[in-house]
Amino acid sequence: MTTLPVGIDDIAASTTSLMFPLAALAAAHDTSAGKYHRGIGQDEMSVPADDEDIVTLAARAAAPIIERHGSEGIRTLLLATETGIDQSKAAGVFVHDLLELPPNVRVVELKEACYSATSALQFALGIVARNPDEKVLVIASDVARYELDSSGEATQGAGAVAMLVAAHPRVLEIEPASGLFTENVHDFWRPNDRTTALVDGRYSVTVYLRAMEVAWQDYRERGGSPIDTISRICFHQPFTKMAAKAMQKLAKTAGLEDSAKAVSDLADTMTLNRRLGNTYTASSYMALLSLLEAGSLGDGERVGIFSYGSGAVAEFFTGVLVRGYREQLRTGDLTAMLDARREISYSEYRERHIAADRTGNFDTVHETLGNFRFAGVRDSIRVYEKTDNSPRA
Ligand code: CAA
Repeated sequence: MTTLPVGIDDIAASTTSLMFPLAALAAAHDTSAGKYHRGIGQDEMSVPADDEDIVTLAARAAAPIIERHGSEGIRTLLLATETGIDQSKAAGVFVHDLLELPPNVRVVELKEACYSATSALQFALGIVARNPDEKVLVIASDVARYELDSSGEATQGAGAVAMLVAAHPRVLEIEPASGLFTENVHDFWRPNDRTTALVDGRYSVTVYLRAMEVAWQDYRERGGSPIDTISRICFHQPFTKMAAKAMQKLAKTAGLEDSAKAVSDLADTMTLNRRLGNTYTASSYMALLSLLEAGSLGDGERVGIFSYGSGAVAEFFTGVLVRGYREQLRTGDLTAMLDARREISYSEYRERHIAADRTGNFDTVHETLGNFRFAGVRDSIRVYEKTDNSPRA
């Protein structure tokens, strides 16, 4: 029996219009910048402008995909996030509207911390396998926020990745084997009455590594490929150094001889993430985009993806790069967005962090460089609009 090839047919990403450098955070906290740059492996964090949120990020990421392929065949939109904007309504419904998708689309939101984009991808593969004419738009969109002056503060960030999942994909064919892990733990969570996450930082690192080992073993037991046939692994990157820690551990568990090379090779999965900060559920796919854009792997090479969501759920799976995958990419687009962000000072960063907690009805200031904006809350309804991206005074 031949199986239908299914996987990622297109991928695009977005980030916000503001940036806060970690060197400035280090100076304000009287800490060495080396702790952030080398110790956790982060240089910058993306910060949302007043009129940006997970909906505008998601629409900005997905728009180039719709522009290239049209909406024909898309009958499902799955939006994964842990930065929910409503307790009931799916954020994807706003995105569906902004992208002008037809009404015959099922739209739903998925949540399990930083893991949910992977569940969305797996569900999408199932839908496409059953209905090969259909496509699924999977979007991961998050704004990572911790309390000011907390240990997690240096690992904030924001961004979105959109992926078109289809039969006969042109970027990454996802293989069937997959390794899973779930355990009820409290390493990181965000109660409904909070806008910032609660985290036991060191413990979360321990659980991440344990989840990775269990998911890897399950992947192998279910027919997954040996470690030496996997060219690169895109780990979830709450901070890029976490991927290096994970690779070291996996090399030992899986019996990879040259673990130092495997760790240094991970650099091409970290380029974007070092500048974005933690993008929560988009993070593993930002790592994938970094790798694809680096162009260091050839057609037919195998890529591993490790997805971890605190709480905790994890999954390890693999895909094979499709012949000609580089031609599908928009290499440099996300880097251009990163370069275009306006750098903010420490005092502006703090003011914005506090202002982001406002409630009730309000109008936002027009700041975004993107084509979609969050205009504010009117009569308790979030209002979104399209805009041109011409420079504003
Ligand atoms: N130069 C170079 N390195 C330096 C340095 C310097 N001047 N100063 C310190 N370092 C190193 C330290 O040696 C340490 O390295 P190791 O981890 O290899 O030991 C590293 O920098 C970090 O230093 P600390 O451990 O002292 O840092 P910290 O305790 O202040 O914060 C953290 C680390 C707990 C992970 C914190 O960033 C945090 O709470 N982050 C949020 C939680 C998180 O990201 N968890 C990850 C797993 S959970 C997950 O993945 C889900 C998710 O997205 C949240």
